[in-house]
Amino acid sequence: MSGGAPAGPVTVADWEALGRAAMRPDAEAYVAGGAADELTLRWNREAFDRCRLTVRVPDETPPLETAVHLLGTTWPTPIFLAPTAYHRAFHPDGERATARGAAAAGVPYCVSSGTTTPLDDVVTAAAGAPLWFQLYLAKDRGKSRELVAMVQDLGVRALCLTVDTPSTGARDRETRAGFALPADVATPYWAHVRDDGDASPNPVSWRDVEWLVQAARVPVCVKGVLDPRDAERAAAMGCGAVMVSNHGARNLDTVPSALEALDRVAQRLGGRIPLTLDGGVRRGTDVLKALALGATAVGIGRPAVWGLAAAGADGVEAVCRIVQREFEMALALSGVRRVSAVSRDVLWS
Ligand SMILES: Cc1cc2nc3c(=O)[nH]c(=O)nc-3n(C[C@H](O)[C@H](O)[C@H](O)COP(=O)(O)O)c2cc1C
Repeated sequence: MSGGAPAGPVTVADWEALGRAAMRPDAEAYVAGGAADELTLRWNREAFDRCRLTVRVPDETPPLETAVHLLGTTWPTPIFLAPTAYHRAFHPDGERATARGAAAAGVPYCVSSGTTTPLDDVVTAAAGAPLWFQLYLAKDRGKSRELVAMVQDLGVRALCLTVDTPSTGARDRETRAGFALPADVATPYWAHVRDDGDASPNPVSWRDVEWLVQAARVPVCVKGVLDPRDAERAAAMGCGAVMVSNHGARNLDTVPSALEALDRVAQRLGGRIPLTLDGGVRRGTDVLKALALGATAVGIGRPAVWGLAAAGADGVEAVCRIVQREFEMALALSGVRRVSAVSRDVLWS
């Protein structure tokens, strides 16, 4: 008897196993860990697992339609790469490989201000595919202004100001593992986004958001909103999108899951501003659930890092394609067929 050749990694979980095995133990702890008791980390997943879908027979069967328009860009599926720092600590090709993998899959990549590769090299690797840039702000506005001008000149299409990290969380797992950046890995923009001598970013206030919206030529998103009142303020200030996120459960433990927060925010905001979600997305069905609860697009964080660590650009591309394909299947199987038609009706209530 001869069986078929065993398939390679099929799911994001398969890539997670490969990625974690490929990493140094301290880097693995840095990526996998959440804050403190990791309750929110568990809830990010549980919220998706608890949420059930329904299937309906459609009136018509138009072709599947998955494209999304957000922040002035149209792209093939409502999935983007959330910003994660330090890619050269996980693979020698670092952010260049991430950009190549994301571009090959047609996925916008939000580059972290903790990139370990200069942005011009990332831009070259992306070869015209959409890039966003994640910002922290130094108190010294001159430094922030310089960085914003530089990344805009390089063609990033949106700025994502992270507002949920006034200091770092209790990253116990990473502390226990003694995570440190390898000596040959540098972060070219850390000096722009924190003040001299500070180990972590500065607290961000609404004044800073207002300043950045005025100063920027591209849309500004606020990343790390959980409370509907904050989403309302961001909408009133003219932000391009609100990124509902608990920072992958790495900051304040016991805040709600990203999906629960999205539901609240969307109910209050009623379509006034586009919303994205990140935190715990591992399956195409998770993407559909987030869209049903009001997201225009969803970000994936750790899964791209697992792909990168295991197989560089090919791994990043493979992870993106798995989530995309699963999402297409979910959209077809649910009977909805068109991204623009996804609503709460797709949920079993
Ligand atoms: C290793 C790692 C590094 C991260 N670095 C950043 C960062 O530099 N800036 C930022 O705004 N968010 C950062 N995040 C948070 C992600 O953008 C995102 O919110 C989170 O990873 C989404 O959850 P997921 O990993 O479950 O998909 C990081 C997350 C991880 C796992």
